[in-house]
Parts: sequence; structure tokens; C-alpha cells
Amino acid sequence: MTRYIDTYWNSIIYAKSCNEQHRVEMSHQIGVFLSDATEAIQKTLQTEGACIISSISGEDQYISFCRILGEIYAHRDSASNGITPVSHNQKQEKMPGFSGFSQDSLEFHTDRSTVETPPAFVALYSASPALAGGYSRLVDGAKLCSFLSKQDPDAFAFLTSSHRCIYDDSQFIYRGPLLYSTLNGKYGIRFRCDGNGYYSFNDLPIVARIINCARKFEHSLVLEKDQALIINNERWLHGRTAFQGDRSLLRILLKPGSWFSRGFEIENLNFIEAA
Ligand SMILES: [Fe+2]
Repeated sequence: MTRYIDTYWNSIIYAKSCNEQHRVEMSHQIGVFLSDATEAIQKTLQTEGACIISSISGEDQYISFCRILGEIYAHRDSASNGITPVSHNQKQEKMPGFSGFSQDSLEFHTDRSTVETPPAFVALYSASPALAGGYSRLVDGAKLCSFLSKQDPDAFAFLTSSHRCIYDDSQFIYRGPLLYSTLNGKYGIRFRCDGNGYYSFNDLPIVARIINCARKFEHSLVLEKDQALIINNERWLHGRTAFQGDRSLLRILLKPGSWFSRGFEIENLNFIEAA
């Protein structure tokens, strides 16, 4: 039985905008047994921060593999095994912070942005793809921050300022920089603009510029059934397009294992800071 791992570089479906026609670039796949692919997946997550794994045999194998990558992070909405089914739930969809349980589009964000140390990884396993829509949208925060530091210093300063946002989910409150230093000298990013993210009125144009800039770096893809997307939650922002049908992604949040070094580096940052 063969399993497949598709790294970000050779499997992702690129699109400049969700309104434009999608352009598929799928050069090759690496055929490996999943149990033998751990090292390759870890290396991809460390360097690129995003990885797609195909042909997962089901929920049990998905959980087992997540446990290899790190410790499952308990969440308000998760079951005892750590899984949160992200699917349409009419009871929850209108509550602040629960927009993931609607069929609407979701703007770019990172998960658990209210807590001091967000989970290192977000894993999403496609148990049931949408009938239509439901593209996963991804933005590499390393590229976004590098671009902003050069092209929009005010927006970059906004990200690094410690008093320009309040993220409050009624359980945790975060007031601090959106682009923060990790203990190993790298950077992590957090972001949200749903009903639990608050900004000064004067800063709203900057928030809008950051979101518009993120769209320049957007990748979008449809996770096929039994594919799992794993992203570095302190580097990649994610969202989705609206969908129809019974789309269900099984989400697991993970604290990193000892193999992983948190954060990312920002190209040319010293030059920009000096300027
Ligand atoms: Fe999310």
C-alpha cells in the first residue's frame, strides 16, 4: 500500500484571487509509505511551514500521525481525542468566534490567537469535501512580513507594536504585538479580524491594507477526501471560501515536538529596520 506526501512546493494549487480562474501546478508526487515519510514531512514543515499529505486511511491514522508531530492541544470545541469537526453547525455559526462553523468565507487568520502561546501546528483532514467552493486559502506570513517591511513600513510597525489590538474570545485576552519574537530569535505572527478581534478606528485602514496585501501572496486549494493539510500556525495565515454541501474538515491543533524550531525569519529585515 502506497501513501503519498505532497510538499507545498509541488502540490499546491495557486490562485491570485479566489475570483479568478485557478491555475493548477502539480509537477510530481513523492510516493512513500507514510510511516517512512515522517522525516520528509518534518523537514518540509520546518523549512516551508506547510505540507499536504494524501491517502490517509482514516481518522485513526490521522490522529496517530499527528501524535508523531507533536502533542495534541486541547481546545474548547474539541472532542476527547483532540478532533474538532469544522463543518456547518446552525446552532454555533452566529456566535462570535464561531464563524468557522458556518458555510461562509473566512478571512485570513491564525488559530488560538488569544492565547499567549498559540499551537504550533494546525492540521486539517478532509473527511468530506464540499459540493462546491470550500477552497482553503493560505498566506505565508514570512513573505507577507518581508514585503510589508519593505513596501509599507507603517503596516509593518503596526504588526510589531504591542498596543494596537485586543483579541478576546471571552476565555483569553491577548494584547500585544501581532508579529512577535520567539525565544529562538525568530518571529511568529498572529492575526484575526472576526468578531473577537478589535482594533482602533484609526488603524482600520492599516488592517485593510494588510489583508489586501495578503491576497497578493494567497494560495488556494481544495483538499480532496483523505488529504490533510498541516501548517505552521505561527507562520501561515489561513482562511477559506464559502461553500455548499457537507464539507467537513477534522482539525487537530498541536504543540510541537522537540524536533521543531518555532517561528520564521524575515528576509532583509535588518536593512529595513536600520532605514
Ligand atoms: Fe482557523
